[in-house]
Amino acid sequence: MSYKSFALAVGAWGLLMSASSSVFAHGDVTPQAVDASGLEPLGEEWREENPYSGNDLAIEIGASGYNQNCARCHGLEAISGGIAPDLRKLEPGIDGDEWFTYRVRHGATRNGIPYMPSFEGVLSQEALWAIRAWLETQYDPDL
Ligand code: HEC
Repeated sequence: MSYKSFALAVGAWGLLMSASSSVFAHGDVTPQAVDASGLEPLGEEWREENPYSGNDLAIEIGASGYNQNCARCHGLEAISGGIAPDLRKLEPGIDGDEWFTYRVRHGATRNGIPYMPSFEGVLSQEALWAIRAWLETQYDPDL
């Protein structure tokens, strides 16, 4: 995406948000490719548990993957500005992994309105687990 269309998209998002702070619908998200090379390939079948938990390279890849694909709704550094849930609350370990997988694969729709796009087939399983590995490092038990 060119800088110009990015700026336009950000501007449109801002307008949408100020036009109606109670409606979060946002269908035209442009996903940004995440380069997961260097990580162990995972194949087609979805893992139940994050194979990259605690993996330094995955955490680094995940931090940038998150910034490019999730931060506009979930906030920079996973600190929510109130648009979408604060992902620092997502439990570490397999329980958080399950909920994470469910949401990133299915997205979220309420009354037919997309709240979060599905990332299945958009970002690779490797990229998504890398993002999860980074999110785990942001977990805050006091929230
Ligand atoms: C267009 C905005 C948007 C984008 C982009 C987005 N999300 Fe979401 N996400 C939401 C909203 C809104 C919800 C709450 C959905 C609901 O509860 O119905 C949500 C829920 C979630 C949840 C469940 C959190 C909980 O506490 O229940 C996870 C996990 C999640 N998103 C991860 C991600 C990841 C990872 C990315 C990037 C790959 C991402 N999201 C991109 C809007 C977004």
